[in-house]
Order: sequence, then C-alpha cells, then structure tokens
Amino acid sequence: MKNQNNILVIGGTGKTGRKVANKLTALGHKVRIGSRSATPAFDWDNSETWTEALQGMDKVYITFQPDLAVPGALDAIEKLTKKAKQCHVKKLVLLSGKGEREAELCEQVVIHSGIDYTIVRASWFNQNFSESFFLEPILEGFVALPQADVKIPFVDTEDIADVAVEALLNETHNGNIYQLTGPRALTFKEVIQEISEATQRDITFVPITISAYSKAMKNQGVPANFIWLIEYLFTEVLGNSNNSEITNDIEQVLGRSPKDFSEYIRETINTGIWNPVVTN
Ligand SMILES: NC(=O)c1ccc[n+]([C@@H]2O[C@H](COP(=O)([O-])OP(=O)(O)OC[C@H]3O[C@@H](n4cnc5c(N)ncnc54)[C@H](OP(=O)(O)O)[C@@H]3O)[C@@H](O)[C@H]2O)c1
Repeated sequence: MKNQNNILVIGGTGKTGRKVANKLTALGHKVRIGSRSATPAFDWDNSETWTEALQGMDKVYITFQPDLAVPGALDAIEKLTKKAKQCHVKKLVLLSGKGEREAELCEQVVIHSGIDYTIVRASWFNQNFSESFFLEPILEGFVALPQADVKIPFVDTEDIADVAVEALLNETHNGNIYQLTGPRALTFKEVIQEISEATQRDITFVPITISAYSKAMKNQGVPANFIWLIEYLFTEVLGNSNNSEITNDIEQVLGRSPKDFSEYIRETINTGIWNPVVTN
C-alpha cells in the first residue's frame, strides 16, 4: 500500500484506542498496540519499555493512564516525547481531557516537542456508562452521584476515534487543538432516566455530595490515588460551567454530526451489556 504508516496506538485495547487501532488496520496501516499486555509491552509505569515500542513508528496516538491530570503525568509525557523524537516519530496525536487545566500542561509538552501534533480534547465519554465505572451501579439499579444538576456534553468514543484517525493520517490537522463534545448536554439524572426508559429497567438515581461519594469509595476499598482523581474530575471538570458548552469540532473535522446519546443507548442495548445479571 502506498503511504502506509506504522502507527503506535498507546492504550490500543482501551475505549478509544481499540477503535483507533481497528480503523487504522482496516485502512491498511500497520498498527502496534502500546499496552502492558502487548508484545513488546508498553507500560507507563516503566519507561524502559517505551523505546522498543516506539522504534520504527511513524506516528503515535497517545492515551495516558489513568489521566493527564495525575501527578507524574507531565514528567511521563516529557520523557515519552523526547524518546519519540529520538526514534524519529513524525506525528503525535494526544488524547486530552476537555476542561482539565493539568492536562493542558501536558498538551504544551506535545505542542513544543518539535514533532507534528494534533491535540484531541474530549468531554466525558458515553462509554463510561457501559465500559467503565458507571456500569456496575447501572447493573445494580442504583446510581448515586455528585454534581447531579451539571449538564455534561457526553461524547461517543466512535467519534473521538474517527477524529483521531483523521488527525493521524491527514497533515491539514497539524498544529490544531480540537474540543470534542456530543450534540446534547445531559445531567447524570437525565442519563440514568434515558437508560432506564430504553432498557425498561428500574434504575434509581440519587444525588449525593462529593464528600459522601468519596467516603463510599473509601469504604469499598477504592485506592486513595483513584479517589483523588475522581474528586478532581468531579470538581475541576464538572464544577466549571464552561465545560457544559457544546462544540462543533467533530462536524468540522469529519463533515458529519456527532452521535447523539440516544444512538449510543440503542447500540449499547444491542450488546447486552446492560442486561440484568441473572443469579441462580
Ligand atoms: N473516560 C473519559 O470520560 C475521558 C474523557 C476525556 C479524556 N479521557 C482520557 O482518556 C485516556 C484514557 O482513559 P480511559 O479511562 O478511557 O482508559 P482506556 O483507554 O479505556 O484504558 C485502557 C487502556 O490502557 C491500557 N493501560 C492501562 N494501564 C496502562 C499502563 N500502566 N501502561 C500502559 N497501558 C496501560 C490498557 O491496556 P493494558 O491493561 O493491557 O495495559 C488499555 O489498552 C485518559 O488519559 C483520560 O484522561 C477520558
């Protein structure tokens, strides 16, 4: 294939990375997955694994774990971009969080890396309700969350992946920062109501305070650094009304509308992931 690229997809089995990797492969590009379970393994907690994963790669899609806001992320992104430069990588696409000031420091490192780049800042993912920490309470039929009245413009990982692929393959996106949101902003209460109605299941939503949420996580044995991150995301991202705004960057990049939350619900119902757990 002419113009075939070797592309490292860090987090290539995760919520956006999996879709980016599949789309690139379908287009005929050579994809290397960057994750702890891949060969060669790539581990954010062990920088000695990074060079082997970067060698021979033209481009890299970077999704950091667990979040660009955590202490240590800036240092890791600095080290990774330096190694990428040494390995002659020509393009970086960074997945960032919309409304996270700490993540913007990491973006600056990529912007000043001397390598072509595109920054993709995403709002909270739809898929947090089916592939992440909101799934379990939905299956239990009882969801208690803080910031219940905040409108969140949830975005679909399919749209994020399409934008990331377009940015990786097309030089016209070099130097751009895209802010991705869905077409509608919804509160957690509205989300649970829509899922409940569509699945015809009773799911109770209860608004709670951030401190009560943290206490509940602590009682469930959730690690302290994860509780810190959740508190940060609920206060820094959801506590800022600017983050409710809807952007049209997906339409601008892809020439089509972003997926509505109702479409995500329809697709997710078909996977069976929200079916009630049957216990004997
Ligand atoms: N979730 C959201 O709503 C949201 C919104 C905006 C931005 N983001 C950003 O998106 C990024 C991804 O977050 P996510 O929660 O959606 O996760 P995710 O992409 O679903 O993460 C899972 C992927 O990361 C890999 N992984 C996990 N720990 C790793 C490590 N120590 N080293 C290397 N790879 C590792 C996993 O593979 P292995 O287990 O094989 O290592 C898997 O491929 C984060 O930077 C987050 O800030 C998320």
